[in-house]
Amino acid sequence: MEKENIQAASNGRRDTIRILGIETSCDETAASIIADGKVVLSSVVASQAKLHEKYGGVVPEIASRAHIEKIYPVISETIEQANLTKDDIDAIAVANQPGLTIALIVGVTAAKTLSFAWNKPLIGINHIHAHMQSAIMDAEDFEAPAAALIVSGGHTSLYNYQSPLKPELLGSTIDDAAGEAFDKVAMILGLPYPGGPSIEKASKDGDPKARNFPRTMLDKDSLDFSFSGIKTAVLYHCQGQNMKGHNKAASMSKQEIADIAASFQKAVVDVLVKKTQRAADRIEAKSVLIGGGVGANTVLRNAMQDMCDASGRKLLIAPKRYCTDNAVMVASLAYHKFKEGLFADLSLESKATG
Ligand code: KG4
Ligand code: ZN
Repeated sequence: MEKENIQAASNGRRDTIRILGIETSCDETAASIIADGKVVLSSVVASQAKLHEKYGGVVPEIASRAHIEKIYPVISETIEQANLTKDDIDAIAVANQPGLTIALIVGVTAAKTLSFAWNKPLIGINHIHAHMQSAIMDAEDFEAPAAALIVSGGHTSLYNYQSPLKPELLGSTIDDAAGEAFDKVAMILGLPYPGGPSIEKASKDGDPKARNFPRTMLDKDSLDFSFSGIKTAVLYHCQGQNMKGHNKAASMSKQEIADIAASFQKAVVDVLVKKTQRAADRIEAKSVLIGGGVGANTVLRNAMQDMCDASGRKLLIAPKRYCTDNAVMVASLAYHKFKEGLFADLSLESKATG
């Protein structure tokens, strides 16, 4: 529950505002301290990738348990890294939606506890909006509106972005997220989790034109996405239509795997670029903003740059290290809520959607 609380904002106000951000929405336990929404004083990310590797995707119960083990060490390390004490912190921010509820709840409980024990204002942050913030926090000359694409393991959505706190949803995936498709295709090809970086690596020696995987555009005006078709196309390609054949990927040459990886990656990138351009044209965007784990993909980054150059738009894209989940983006966005006095109380809930 969010409410105006100017009182809390002005308590102990000082020139520099330092916010502790906490992120546990999926499989990274992260904490960071940011000054004035921009200056990164510390950032700690404990990745659980190794724990989920053998399952080829995030297992919510394992994620939650790992967050419980890591949350306090990660927060303590962040405060230590910033060379601060609790008295230097002005507010506690936490991603409370969307994500895996039993993962989010760990960060939310920690944030509420610190807020209560240290008597600091609490700020609830939307994880997707925070991904947008990671693309814009260093921008000097942002021109609104922007077509914002958030493309990750849990989400693939387009927004009309005018300002940090109120992005307007234009479209999103009707089935799998793009990152989820990367993870599943990597599993089919026998490549390690997380699939995005593995596919990108394998594709370096591959021919993106070797296979013609489907580029699902849906209705001609649609700004929604669908990636389940391409995932199934790769599956059929490797196991046969009736799925009775053994997985051929196990006996494929390195070159065949590289060709499939490159062709799959190109098909996904083509769709992401075309839909982002469609959204940008629709809202007459001056800029394009990209965030989320798949945004770390070099082929996507280059294709988005080419698209923006051709249409005279400025590309704002998160640095690779802040594309995947982190708490820098949480603390940075929280600064804007802090300035507006948008604080939560201890009834703040974790929500799967949002
Ligand atoms: O943003 P993120 O860390 O978590 C969510 O909010 O979902 O995104 C993780 C997703 C995973 O699916 C991962 O495979 C994908 O981002 N990813 C990539 C790359 N790096 C991470 N996908 C394509 N290319 C990459 N280089
Ligand atoms: Zn994310």
